Amino acid sequence: MNTVDYLRISLLDRCNFRCTYCVPEGTTLPYVLPTHLLTAAELLLLLDEVFAPLGLTCFRLTGGEPLLRPDVVEIVRAIAQRPYTRDLAMTTNGFFLAEKAKALYEAGLRRINISLDSLQPEVFDQIIGNRGRSRWQQVWQGIQVAHQLGFDPLKINVVIIPGVNDTEVLDLAALTLEQNWHVRFIEFMPIGNQDLFVDRGWVSSESLRQQIRDRWGLVDSTVQGNGPADVFQIPGAKGTLGFISQMSECFCDRCNRVRLSADGWLRPCLLNETGQIDLKMALREGVPLTDLRHQVQTLLHMKPEINFKARASGTSGSYSRTMSQIGG
Ligand code: GTP
Ligand code: 5AD
Ligand code: SF4
Repeated sequence: MNTVDYLRISLLDRCNFRCTYCVPEGTTLPYVLPTHLLTAAELLLLLDEVFAPLGLTCFRLTGGEPLLRPDVVEIVRAIAQRPYTRDLAMTTNGFFLAEKAKALYEAGLRRINISLDSLQPEVFDQIIGNRGRSRWQQVWQGIQVAHQLGFDPLKINVVIIPGVNDTEVLDLAALTLEQNWHVRFIEFMPIGNQDLFVDRGWVSSESLRQQIRDRWGLVDSTVQGNGPADVFQIPGAKGTLGFISQMSECFCDRCNRVRLSADGWLRPCLLNETGQIDLKMALREGVPLTDLRHQVQTLLHMKPEINFKARASGTSGSYSRTMSQIGG
């Protein structure tokens, strides 16, 4: 059985992008009210008194877009300084990175995953739902700033959508030839924009690997991560290529994580909410921390039976909330 030691913390559900695979066009998402967000003090209390004592000591800050949260740097600093913190990382859309990367680095963040679905500004803008001045350059600059500051590993997440960015697989993979970056291709999941999923379908990791193999060859990487990605390398490349294949090969058996939503719900799985606990409400109602610890411990014990596979086989495998609401 896997040890569950990794907590994904959504700092808020809002996002300044509306990625086509995440948010269906014309949808208004029901955002969590500010008073319903877990405060930094509540979050740290939960980490100190509930999660760390139960062995959850690897943390990833996500959103929505975590850099929209005004106190993000203070939260990073506080978690980085906790003696129990074994790992601290962030997943961001990169838009505010050029501005915030230095403060984040100084606060103790070293690991960062950035979404970049296209190297072509017009395609990128179409994917993120931008109709104004192109935002590609801003995100690309954020990646460069993070690289220069020394963030390592620096991971780039790509969701391939047939007919949108599937012609760019080799260009994106080629980023790893010269840079020590980790480019990860994520199979499109029926989360968020399910109409797009039905319309376009998804591309399997194996078909992407085949394209890359045909062009340069591909070998297993000696550096495997601690997450869902299978990691490979183009021979001689500086960086690696990861494949997150939740559609073609369920990786639930090796799942090591639970998720804390921005409004304080602890959820055992991305797509299955069985047994979820409203920790914010419990804290605000004064439930003793020892009781909360017991409840969370029970959820962790149930976790092996609660997974995406169980849900997907029981239903169509689709899900009504977006990644920004669940906390990517
Ligand atoms: P590291 O490998 O630790 O860098 O993190 P990660 O890959 O888990 O983090 P990231 O936030 O970059 O997540 C990338 C993608 O992995 C997400 O968009 C999801 O598609 C997928 N993913 C992450 N966690 C889960 C999970 O628990 N279940 C499923 N099905 N997919 C997940
Ligand atoms: N399928 C696959 N990945 C998705 N993401 C958001 N929505 C989906 C989806 N429907 C990814 C983003 C980001 C990560 C946190 O989640 O691209 O990299
Ligand atoms: Fe895009 Fe992530 Fe924002 Fe969703 S939460 S719109 S995937 S950047």
